[in-house]
Amino acid sequence: MSPDVIALASDHGGVELKALLKDELLKAGHGVLDLGTEGPQSVDYPDFAEAMAEAIRSGSAGRGVLICGTGIGISIAANRYPFIRAALVSDVTTARLARSHNDANVLVLGGRTMGAEVAKDCLKIFLETPFEGGRHAGRVLKMGQART
Ligand code: RB5
Repeated sequence: MSPDVIALASDHGGVELKALLKDELLKAGHGVLDLGTEGPQSVDYPDFAEAMAEAIRSGSAGRGVLICGTGIGISIAANRYPFIRAALVSDVTTARLARSHNDANVLVLGGRTMGAEVAKDCLKIFLETPFEGGRHAGRVLKMGQART
């Protein structure tokens, strides 16, 4: 169980941003688990959402960052796992609220839609912001209840 490890995964649309954020995390002293992809060749984002879900499920990582071209496909795929709360954010405000209100455990970014500096700021805020609990706790609990 490695709750302090942060897993990173992307498809080809997010590979450059993933490398940049991985460097930031390592520089800041975080443990990092890189789940790929590694190059520009076309891959399927649901496979990387699944790898992230498995890393969180197994406890290999406590939190994660997912990136595809827009962040849309990989967030839809990740949120099919009931223990994943993947938040596609667009700025530091949504990154902060994803943590404080939604207890998001996976930050999702668009590699082709977000600038590097904004992405770095979003990651920093995401990692620093605690969940508020209180009125939000029951809502988060309801999101985790499996549906058929
Ligand atoms: C891949 O071309 C692209 O569709 C993917 O990265 C993502 O943007 C999907 O939502």
